[in-house]
Amino acid sequence: MTAPAPPWALLAELTHACPLHCSYCSNPLELTRRSRELTAGQWAAVFRQAAELGVLHTHLSGGEPLLRRDLEQIARAAVEAGLYTQLVTSGVGLSAGRLDALVDAGLHSVQLSVQHADPGRSDQLAGHPAFDAKRQAAALVKERGLPLGVNVVLHRHNLDALDALMELAVAWRADRVELANTQFYGWGLLNRAALMPSREQLAAAGEQVKAWRERLGGAVEITWVVPDYFSGAPKPCMGGWGAVSLTVTPDGTTLPCPAAATVPGLHAPNAAERPLRWIWEESPAFNAYRGTDWMPDPCRGCERRTEDFGGCRCQAFALTGDASRTDPACSLSPDHAALIALTRPGTPPMPVPRRPTTPDRLQERTDRRTR
Ligand code: SF4
Ligand code: FES
Repeated sequence: MTAPAPPWALLAELTHACPLHCSYCSNPLELTRRSRELTAGQWAAVFRQAAELGVLHTHLSGGEPLLRRDLEQIARAAVEAGLYTQLVTSGVGLSAGRLDALVDAGLHSVQLSVQHADPGRSDQLAGHPAFDAKRQAAALVKERGLPLGVNVVLHRHNLDALDALMELAVAWRADRVELANTQFYGWGLLNRAALMPSREQLAAAGEQVKAWRERLGGAVEITWVVPDYFSGAPKPCMGGWGAVSLTVTPDGTTLPCPAAATVPGLHAPNAAERPLRWIWEESPAFNAYRGTDWMPDPCRGCERRTEDFGGCRCQAFALTGDASRTDPACSLSPDHAALIALTRPGTPPMPVPRRPTTPDRLQERTDRRTR
């Protein structure tokens, strides 16, 4: 077997703990307990192995990574391994002292999540009074001279504020804005009916993004993550399964994408137990949907199969119960009509805020409200 090309990105989910309660949260329904989190020493070993494997950059993510008291130690280990290291945070807990310690550790950049441009609406969507902390965190990051990214997960309840969100990002001197239409995984999948935007909202937002790109002329990099339920074309999820990126979850479980734990029978390896090189090159989990040999029709004979890789395996599983089917987001998929039915306008229920671990009860509530 030829060894796969090396990965270049590592998503390090340091903890699932989080002060926010976002209804679109894509983390799994069952969150990893804090007592099972990898230690800073174990993370250092992961970063060293990742760099040896070819990884160039890592995102220190969560949950809220600032809830790790040893975050500075973890960031230093990533930097010392030679990785470009970005903190992905809600901003809650990013005091001047902590940022200084992270800068001292060598942190390269910060990505800040924002839920809405209006402080009250933002706090409501976050389920936590977080907006002031975000504003202060943005100012601190710029004062310390680090690149600032602003990430907004877009859905029915904030798409209409896209112009205001862009104004906010410009006012906060963001270098990069990621406008990410909600991808329905984890808790977000349970809230799908409540978060689903309308076609009109998406069309207007698409025009606004175009206008902002023209207005800013490249001074701020704007990424628009497509709403694949509406586009008829699947996203090239993760750049292909086991193609460019690894995700290590808080307890060391190592996955080809953040949602892959939902795919049954994957037997995900653990970076605390197995060498990362073996996981990347030889583990059955990373080879399960690598390349194109696993593809069914219509992907098998499709000329786009090396561009979109048949879409998203986790979405195929979530929508059809079979991870090896063509992603229903594709207009050629035999399951596409079922996906389109989910986008039809109706009266959506209110989104349910993220809670730690009550998936069965939430599912019951969601079922009742969408009946
Ligand atoms: Fe992509 Fe498969 Fe659809 Fe072709 S049939 S566009 S490869 S998902
Ligand atoms: Fe897992 Fe797309 S989220 S393959």
